[in-house]
Amino acid sequence: MSHRHEHEHEQTEQPFAPHTREFWDHRYGESQRVWSGNPNQRLVEQVAGLTPGTALDVGCGEGADAVWLASQGWTTTGVDVSVVALERTAAHAAEAGVQVATAPYDVLAGEPLPGGPYDLVTSHFLHLPAELRHAAYAHMADAVAPGGRLLIVGHHPADHESGVRRPHGEGLMFTAEEVVGCFATDDWETEVAAEPRRVQQTPDGPLEVTDTVVRLRRR
Ligand SMILES: C[S@@+](CC[C@H](N)C(=O)[O-])C[C@H]1O[C@@H](n2cnc3c(N)ncnc32)[C@H](O)[C@@H]1O
Repeated sequence: MSHRHEHEHEQTEQPFAPHTREFWDHRYGESQRVWSGNPNQRLVEQVAGLTPGTALDVGCGEGADAVWLASQGWTTTGVDVSVVALERTAAHAAEAGVQVATAPYDVLAGEPLPGGPYDLVTSHFLHLPAELRHAAYAHMADAVAPGGRLLIVGHHPADHESGVRRPHGEGLMFTAEEVVGCFATDDWETEVAAEPRRVQQTPDGPLEVTDTVVRLRRR
């Protein structure tokens, strides 16, 4: 399984402002498909053993994760700031013959996530400035049902030294410790706080990169 996260947008001329609809509609509009269409490895690793229920994918992009969740029996909703992304998610789901509900959502708008509560809220490679991402995590946490899980996956700041070209400025990537620190231990059990490595195929060849993987269970 290979999920392409080479971030081709790092080669574009425009300034990197990765948390707005304008940026992402433009980014997705540049090509017919940006990501691989395969689910993220960390999602599959973390969710394959869970009993399916309701799931929400925040920043679902072109829908590969949402489609995989639906194929595993999860009643799945995908939200994203980009309407182009949501159209692709819907098309991917139709192609795969699964149901995925979609809704536009700006995680920075300060509003609750739609629907829920969910048995699983996931977010993969949503990289926001620190003060904004902590607010975003609070909204994601509110959308998790008691006993449900929150799975947050992103690029680790060590990637700045790995040689992989990342457009993210210093504050955008995050450690497992930082994510775990956003959640009160009275309310959340940390099931996974890991920083696993993997080899990523990049325009510069295969490079070892580090992911941040945090899975929490709401008590
Ligand atoms: C790097 S892509 C990852 C997409 C998908 N999760 C995946 O792993 O393939 C980041 C996604 O976050 C979305 N995004 C960025 N800012 C957002 C915001 N403020 N609210 C909701 N989604 C946002 C983008 O539109 C994009 O689809």
